[in-house]
Amino acid sequence: MSNNAKSVQSLEERAAALHFPASFRFGAATSSYQIEGGMDADGKGESIWDRFTRRPGVINDGSSGDVACDSYHRWPDDIALLREMGLGSYRFSLSWPRMQPDGRGKMNAKGIGYYDRLIDALLRDGIEPFVTLYHWDLPQELQDSGGWYDRETAHRFADYAELAVAVLGDRVKHWTTLNEPWTFAWSGHACGEDAPGFADGVRGGLAASHHALLAHGLAVPRIRGAAPGSDVGIVLDFNVVHAATDASTDMAAARRFEGVQNRWYLDAVFKGSYPEDILKLCAGLLPDIRPEDNATIAQPLDYLGMNVYRRSVIGAGSDLPPLNFARTNPPGRYSALNWEIWPQCIREALEYVHRDYAPQQIFITENGLATLAERPGADGRVFDPARAEYIVDHLEQVSKALASGVPVKGYFAWTLIDNFEWAYGHSAQFGLAHVDRRTLDRRLKYSGEIFGQIARNGR
Ligand code: FCB
Repeated sequence: MSNNAKSVQSLEERAAALHFPASFRFGAATSSYQIEGGMDADGKGESIWDRFTRRPGVINDGSSGDVACDSYHRWPDDIALLREMGLGSYRFSLSWPRMQPDGRGKMNAKGIGYYDRLIDALLRDGIEPFVTLYHWDLPQELQDSGGWYDRETAHRFADYAELAVAVLGDRVKHWTTLNEPWTFAWSGHACGEDAPGFADGVRGGLAASHHALLAHGLAVPRIRGAAPGSDVGIVLDFNVVHAATDASTDMAAARRFEGVQNRWYLDAVFKGSYPEDILKLCAGLLPDIRPEDNATIAQPLDYLGMNVYRRSVIGAGSDLPPLNFARTNPPGRYSALNWEIWPQCIREALEYVHRDYAPQQIFITENGLATLAERPGADGRVFDPARAEYIVDHLEQVSKALASGVPVKGYFAWTLIDNFEWAYGHSAQFGLAHVDRRTLDRRLKYSGEIFGQIARNGR
């Protein structure tokens, strides 16, 4: 047997050995802008990503989400893939400007109709919808009046959340307010890599973050009011942060980075206050944080969703003063996005959050590997053993966290299909299924087959 065949065999043996409790949910995740297309179909309003991707040079390969995977029309193909893998849950997001084109006022019946059809079909197939209300596609109209720099946007979000849940909440039992406020606040307002593209440094990142968290806090009771009995949570991206060396300067920089990326959100949501060290460090750059805001943000939640991909190894440097950090890349394995592959990070993240914040339930809402775009081989199959291995490696760690008492209730792979990966366009892909960019036909990859086997074993 060749070395390759041996390593595939041992991977498949490790996959077969994974067992999870019968109630553990296996699913795949996507987001509206990354898959739907239908940019202006049926009365959809413009989003900040529709606008941002028009700017020359901001997307690696010049692509946009105008068509993406055309899931607006091909959603039955997406559901067929979920069925093929035997997954019991699907995490997707609603496009706010499809639901409510101007971000305020009138809802769009045709936009609602799209999600109605999708949700009904999922339920018919016994697949549970986990719905995110905001995965980064803010209505451009709201951006024009200040977007996440404007406190009012938080109120507009809470209004929209209530309206959306009022029409879909009879069937959807898991609601997420925001996906990764750290990423959209900082990449969109501090660094300018994502929409709306502001490079306003720490001042921008903190203002957008605070208003996003306020939006979350204002929305939670409105969601509960519109759909009593449903589970409500937030999805945070979680980076395990390690200092590059034991030097006190590196350790302090890692602590600062970890403070804005992890503790800022976790402390606000679970402890009702922002971390003192960050407030002190960034005094003078803070937005208007009113005394009552802390209690508004710290709503009791039914679950925390954690998106975990990698470890961040941080040393002292000059990025984003006064955070003054530098990301370093220790020797190791890296993905096509240059993210370190370090499977222990998922267990470390779960154990840390359980110990310090104790959410009632935790879902891994995203985890996956970016590779360069793959092509089907001569036999028509898309063979991506690196992605299958990544999933098995990380699920082994999740099962260790479970064994140590962390209440982790499910795992969603990012992502169902090769899609529009934000600033990277289509140059790197995370899909369990390949999408032919010409025909948009979907085809399950090897990693999807393996993931499906694990999901079936575990059920
Ligand atoms: C996360 C996003 C998701 C996807 C993955 C790779 O930050 O939530 O949309 O782009 O990263």
